[in-house]
Amino acid sequence: MSENSQAFLTVQDLYVHFPTADGLVKATDGLSYTLERGKTLGIVGESGSGKSVSSSTILGLHRGTNAQVSGNVWLDGVDLLSLSDREMRQKRGKEIAMIFQDPLSALHPYYTVGNQIAEAYRVHNNVSKKAARARGIEMLELVGIPQPQTRFDNYPHEFSGGMRQRAMIAMALINDPSLVIADEPTTALDVTVQAQILDLLQNLQKEFNTAIIMITHDLGVVAEMADDALVMYAGRAVEYGPVREVLTHPEMPYTWGLLSSVPEVGGDTDARMVPIPGNPPSLLNPPSGCPFHPRCVHSAKVPGDLCRTTLPELLEGPRGAGHLSRCHLPDPEAIYEAEVIPEIAPEQVEERRG
Ligand SMILES: Nc1ncnc2c1ncn2[C@@H]1O[C@H](COP(=O)(O)OP(=O)(O)OP(=O)(O)O)[C@@H](O)[C@H]1O
Ligand code: SF4
Ligand SMILES: [Mg+2]
Repeated sequence: MSENSQAFLTVQDLYVHFPTADGLVKATDGLSYTLERGKTLGIVGESGSGKSVSSSTILGLHRGTNAQVSGNVWLDGVDLLSLSDREMRQKRGKEIAMIFQDPLSALHPYYTVGNQIAEAYRVHNNVSKKAARARGIEMLELVGIPQPQTRFDNYPHEFSGGMRQRAMIAMALINDPSLVIADEPTTALDVTVQAQILDLLQNLQKEFNTAIIMITHDLGVVAEMADDALVMYAGRAVEYGPVREVLTHPEMPYTWGLLSSVPEVGGDTDARMVPIPGNPPSLLNPPSGCPFHPRCVHSAKVPGDLCRTTLPELLEGPRGAGHLSRCHLPDPEAIYEAEVIPEIAPEQVEERRG
């Protein structure tokens, strides 16, 4: 991570609130992060924590809705939130592209895959249909679609799920965007295809020096793909930093909960899965203080009533290195070592001591 002013992407104090009949839904509540070219930020958190809303706001997808948006989103020195709708449309699909969980939501069933990919190119480039077709075929080949010349003229339903995901990646990358937002891009795929798609994204990232925001429920994907990790809870960052730091020295009990419920992180298949008790909070009326407090089994270790009354700030921990967390615990590392690691995987305790 780097200083805000110099980063390729800087999201600063982003708020996205939705007024509804039941009250104000605070889907993103003061989110800040940075991302450099060629790097990947993994955003992780339970359903409803604000991962998609915060990321799609970068693309301006909440324009024209009743969403109340404030803050700054700087991309290569330009504040995206201050652009006109026309200027934003020029960036969307060209400089910034999005890959969704469900390719059928991005691919129209009535048009051939190739025509849709070529059209994504023609919207931003003044080229002939023939040149766009050639470029589309080149992209299909790049993402590993066999016989791309023939496959170009297939309809989405003639592609398998994995091929549709590849086609959507081809469509997203055809204009060589500098920022790609991938929202659960592999959740619907089986494990083998998932690994292939992640490999493909990594290879394309290396080739084009793309910055990637990878939204996922899966800490395994974060461990494999990301340079930095951002853990979201109730519309806010609760832990953020270099991925190795966050995954091997997590400082916030919610991150501990996520790690405990994903045994494969660290490659320990014998580890026990410990689900986080309770449910994600309502964003209409989130709990006071630390919003995780009703579910946190460590809050009794914090003196007084702080967890219930006071929102912890996102602060750098004792290890430094830009590793931030939001928790009142005075010595989280000691609790993690003594109580959490043995719960997850007793072998890791020995490894760490060794
Ligand atoms: N247009 C809207 N109006 C009102 N509330 C909304 C709107 N869009 C999203 N929300 C709410 O904002 C919150 C955050 O939603 P978001 O889609 O960002 O969650 P998420 O972290 O991506 O979850 P998931 O993992 O399920 O995709 C949710 O409570 C959701 O119901
Ligand atoms: S601030 Fe309190 S409730 Fe929140 S995670 Fe830390 S210990 Fe748990
Ligand atoms: Mg989502």
